[in-house]
Amino acid sequence: MRVLFVTSNEGKFKEAKSIGEKYGIEVEWLKEEYLEPQGNDLEEIAKKSAELLAEKIREPFFIEDSGLFIEALNGFPGPYSSFVFKTIGNEGILKLMEGVENRKAYFLAVIAFFDGKKVLTFKGKVEGRIAEEMRGDKGFGFDPIFEYSGRTFAEMGEEKNEVSHRRRALEEFFGYLKALR
Ligand code: IMP
Repeated sequence: MRVLFVTSNEGKFKEAKSIGEKYGIEVEWLKEEYLEPQGNDLEEIAKKSAELLAEKIREPFFIEDSGLFIEALNGFPGPYSSFVFKTIGNEGILKLMEGVENRKAYFLAVIAFFDGKKVLTFKGKVEGRIAEEMRGDKGFGFDPIFEYSGRTFAEMGEEKNEVSHRRRALEEFFGYLKALR
């Protein structure tokens, strides 16, 4: 079984491809940027994006959207993670968190799958905390400030992919596809 993954991010594609192999699913890459409608709910945004793309693609595909949610900031940056990373970055988040004791945070990944008729969503979450400073040189995005079991994602390298929100969402999704056969 093969399925199209629409993303402009090669790292995301590679991770999905390698997990798909475990499930006997061939993930094909459609490298494309697409419009993301604004909103306060990651699942709604992913679903809407997939519905808009479906008008153009017309065959089964999936997309993936993720965000970082910080408890002390009431879930910020959440659905605005990409914009916040581009504007204030990790330094900005650390500044906002200066002197804040509750450092709990989680990453959420939502996969929206267009099955040819309708859009289904699958979620994956990983809980951790915001580190006091940036650590590690691997990974991307908020990886240097997201701590999981004592190490930041940027210190974990490949091990991150065993526990990541994206990994968990992909496993849900591929499990679903496999059960269809
Ligand atoms: P996207 O819109 O799904 O590509 O992700 C939104 C933003 O969240 C990106 O700009 C990244 O900065 C951040 N992000 C998503 N997943 C991760 C991750 O696994 N590690 C670190 N940052 C991430």
